[in-house]
Amino acid sequence: MPEISSRFEGLGVGFAPYLQPPGPEVVRWTVGEPGFSTPEEILDATIEELRNGNTKYTRGAGSMELCQAVADYVSKHHDIEVAAEDVVVTPGAKQAMLYSFLITTMPGDEAILLAPSWASYEPMLEFIGAVPVHVPVRKDNFHPDLQAIRDAISERTRVIILNSPCNPTGAVFTPEEIQGILDIAIEHDLWIVSDEIYSRMVWVDWPHVSPAALPGGIERTIVVNGWSKSWAMTGMRLGFLTGPPNAVKAAMKSQANSASHVPTFMMEAARVALSCEDSVHEFNHEYRKRRDIMKDGLSKLPGIRVIEPEGAFYIFADITGTGMTDTEFADGALEAGVQLIPASLVTEGDGFIRVSYATDEEAIREGLSRLGKWLLDE
Ligand SMILES: Cc1ncc(COP(=O)(O)O)c(C=O)c1O
Repeated sequence: MPEISSRFEGLGVGFAPYLQPPGPEVVRWTVGEPGFSTPEEILDATIEELRNGNTKYTRGAGSMELCQAVADYVSKHHDIEVAAEDVVVTPGAKQAMLYSFLITTMPGDEAILLAPSWASYEPMLEFIGAVPVHVPVRKDNFHPDLQAIRDAISERTRVIILNSPCNPTGAVFTPEEIQGILDIAIEHDLWIVSDEIYSRMVWVDWPHVSPAALPGGIERTIVVNGWSKSWAMTGMRLGFLTGPPNAVKAAMKSQANSASHVPTFMMEAARVALSCEDSVHEFNHEYRKRRDIMKDGLSKLPGIRVIEPEGAFYIFADITGTGMTDTEFADGALEAGVQLIPASLVTEGDGFIRVSYATDEEAIREGLSRLGKWLLDE
């Protein structure tokens, strides 16, 4: 058998080892997937488009109607002003991230990640030969340390990767912090890739602000977003990116030479989703409730310190008070019937666990009761 290319040597797979489906008796707090059904209007649009025969090749960046709807959506909700021609609809936000990394780095170039960061960024960067540089966030609230970002910039730095609201920490960066990061990017002529997939899930009283909405931001920011989280469409694989014309042209080339486009019959469904505001509000109402139950329950357990979860649907809890490492804790929790993620799988995650409250309320309550029995009986 011939050897595979060396690019896969040592390449990580993020949280994957802890995301494997356990037995049915185990409560899953691992998966970042909304515990709701996809709204009916979206399903209807998909089926109708299939019946209409929209199953052939089409415009690579997505239908003009869909791209216009995305441009209108980001203008309305995030003050990002772009034309429909500057939108590329991709198979998930993940693919849009990959294009963004290809667009902003050459092999050997450095990309700044605010650590701990989403587990897929590092392997994705390494996949294309870019070098991830982890800059720790503040441990008291997971917000960025602007001086540490400045200190990490070198001759090879090309891009700062932002993800607010953040997976895994749940932090929502303040408008001042986003402005501070944009100032640094302008000063050093860097790109920003802003993964805004959780942009509608903010539980604090400051808003999500995109660097692309600030003066001087859109020229150097590639915004990545998608349908998976806010409309419960994870399996439909729909994301998008937008940014300045040179980046968008390169994204179109990336897509033309790989995925071609998202399924033709999904484009109308994606357009319909952008107007399903009732579902977004209904889901968010539930997430707030679930967040409070999870936060209060975990805070009562011995040795666990919960840092305020500000957005997305994750809690990143410090478990060092239990005397266990995070992997020991995750393994013990699994034995007690709760699957969760030991955060040492990512840089700067040692001593923390990540739990998702996207799951249903019953699974949250049951998991809390199992962890309680395990930790209190020890
Ligand atoms: C921060 C972040 N970005 C991107 C994605 C991927 O989204 P998609 O399903 O659109 O590829 C996820 C999914 O977990 C995520 O947490």
